[in-house]
Amino acid sequence: MSDPNTREGFASKIGFIFAAAGSAIGLGNIWRFPWLAGANGGAAFLIIYLGIVILVGVTMFMGEVTLGRYAQRSNVGAFKKVAPGWTWVGAMGLLAGFLILSYYSVVGGWVIYYFVRAIAGFNMTDPSLTGQLFESFITHPLLPLIFHALFMGMTIWICYNGVQGGIEKYSNIMMPALFAILIILAIRSLTLPGAAEGLRFYLVPDFSKITGKTFLDALGQVFFSLSLGMGSILTYGSYLSKKENIPQVSTIVPIMDTLIAFTAGLIIFPAVFNYGFEPAAGPGLTFVTLPAVFSEMPLGNLFGGAFFLLLFLAALTSAISLLEPLTAYMMEEHGWERKRATVILGSIMFVIGIGASLSMGVWSSFKIAGLVFFDQLDWVANNLLLPLGGMFTAIVVAWVWGTKNALQEATNDGTLKFGLGDFWANVMLKYVSPALVAILFLTGIGILKV
Ligand code: PFF
Repeated sequence: MSDPNTREGFASKIGFIFAAAGSAIGLGNIWRFPWLAGANGGAAFLIIYLGIVILVGVTMFMGEVTLGRYAQRSNVGAFKKVAPGWTWVGAMGLLAGFLILSYYSVVGGWVIYYFVRAIAGFNMTDPSLTGQLFESFITHPLLPLIFHALFMGMTIWICYNGVQGGIEKYSNIMMPALFAILIILAIRSLTLPGAAEGLRFYLVPDFSKITGKTFLDALGQVFFSLSLGMGSILTYGSYLSKKENIPQVSTIVPIMDTLIAFTAGLIIFPAVFNYGFEPAAGPGLTFVTLPAVFSEMPLGNLFGGAFFLLLFLAALTSAISLLEPLTAYMMEEHGWERKRATVILGSIMFVIGIGASLSMGVWSSFKIAGLVFFDQLDWVANNLLLPLGGMFTAIVVAWVWGTKNALQEATNDGTLKFGLGDFWANVMLKYVSPALVAILFLTGIGILKV
């Protein structure tokens, strides 16, 4: 058991904001959001996404921060403290983080490799060639593993150095760098001669593309993008000082996350259209279409390098928030030292990630329900564990611990003004969020059809 008096914490509010924004802003924002929006009616999707962020995202984010800060414990310990019968919710979150980081780190490795390739220059203007490059890289039995090891090694290193000396310190460097690169790339893209056409594709709403599934895709994306449902935000909340303003920081981070996702689309679509590529390339947009775009662009190796550096920074700050809850759990509940916890846990996830990486190539014939191992990890985490974890966290905070207690913590014992507090706790957290997430879950596993 750790001693609450010597418990680590963030040194400043901005440290928390950068770390939590670092967790939220990841591959989900820069790789996944743009193609999802592009494929789902552009601005129409954006409007729905924004609505869900405001209604569900901020609500649940604030719920996790509040519970974490009150308990001064990470995932499992927090549940033990306020709702002893519900510890399994925390355990489920830990499992989710464990599975997600195992394959997230593999993709993090791809990003490092693509950064190096981008600097060297892709020199392939034909997407069928960049498609082959991607295919032959990810199916290679050894090469992706080297980069996966590198990415996991960096993740371990940061958590190994502690909350202030690792997570806060590196987030304070990496997040401003990420913002700067993002702005430079957005300016580059928006000043290309063919930018307007890309903007039209991205921003003119096409409501005919909106179906029930669009809402579901948006809800799932909000969840993953805000790192909800698995205790990352709860754990970071437990490191937030008692004097800080929870409603304020819990609104700022989702806004930042949404702005960055939106801006990623402003970078990608104008460039894709300017050089006449296919915008609806789906998940392959980043690794197949963009290398061809950068091959066409003057100084493409510079801009391509900057883009993959951006993606790398985003992925790394998210990865540390996946390792930290597990680390904190082993420290708090099992008395492990931080250094030992980070190295051992990170190494186990590295090994599982090897399986995920090989399932793209040599092990691709081992399938369950048509999914290779990589996709199984993703499916179990994103369709089962995250929505369930999120729903039960909201239930525990609002129904078991109680909205009165939650409001007390969120307002620093009534000393902060929080006008919408009652609405947040008694309407959104208690009813709307768990109900919506239950729908997400039931559709994800195929019981409900939309
Ligand atoms: N929010 C991250 C992204 O958008 O890529 C992914 C993520 C990080 C999900 C941490 C869950 C988590 F706990």
